[in-house]
Amino acid sequence: MWACSSVKYMSGKAIILAPSILSADFARLGEEIARVEAAGCELLHIDVMDGHFVPNLTIGADVVKALRGVTALPFDVHLMVEKPEEYIERFAAAGAAYITVHAEAARHLHRVLAQIRACGVKAGAALNPATPWENLRYVAENLDLVLIMTVNPGFGGQEFISAMLPKIAACAEWLRAENPGCLLETDGGINTRTARAAAAAGANILVAGAAVFGQADAAAALRDLRRAARA
Ligand code: DX5
Ligand code: ZN
Repeated sequence: MWACSSVKYMSGKAIILAPSILSADFARLGEEIARVEAAGCELLHIDVMDGHFVPNLTIGADVVKALRGVTALPFDVHLMVEKPEEYIERFAAAGAAYITVHAEAARHLHRVLAQIRACGVKAGAALNPATPWENLRYVAENLDLVLIMTVNPGFGGQEFISAMLPKIAACAEWLRAENPGCLLETDGGINTRTARAAAAAGANILVAGAAVFGQADAAAALRDLRRAARA
């Protein structure tokens, strides 16, 4: 199991940048991950899609397990799958540090969050753009991470939905009161402009696919995003 102690530093106030491998060159995945690790990112975001919850298919636990051997970066596994409870143990064994399930896909969200923690992994809940953050109100203490989707999940390279900014701000305020150790992540359409807005609204982790893997100079891309987020 990937040690949770390795990600403890992430509960601080600094902005964490998490490149999403969805925009990487899948024919050279190991080299691509080495590229962003050398460029100085803190977390690797791994998008798992089942072709049912979202209209796209990506990778499974066996690929995640293989990637565990090529990088020291903690893995932030975003499960865009139906029946996520059937896959938790496999992704935990594959080396996930965080496993995030969609609130819309988990019929028994409280139980799945407990299932993730029982595997020694940090537990996250993701919300589609149309889902209110209030859906998480009664599982506050079961969360290590909340992921607010700023695009409709399924594809990289989409435009940031700015109507999510008040949702990020309201959720951040709620977490500060109810679970200050919980991280708040945004995913989709992050660039220097939207990174600034998301961070100002209260996000701690910014997932970025096209804005990092889509750039020839990943170090410059990360530096620009970090600078924008701090502005
Ligand atoms: C979308 C994924 C995102 C996506 C982000 O379903 O969850 O992680 O890859 O990509 P960009 O940053 O290109 O919008
Ligand atoms: Zn994602």
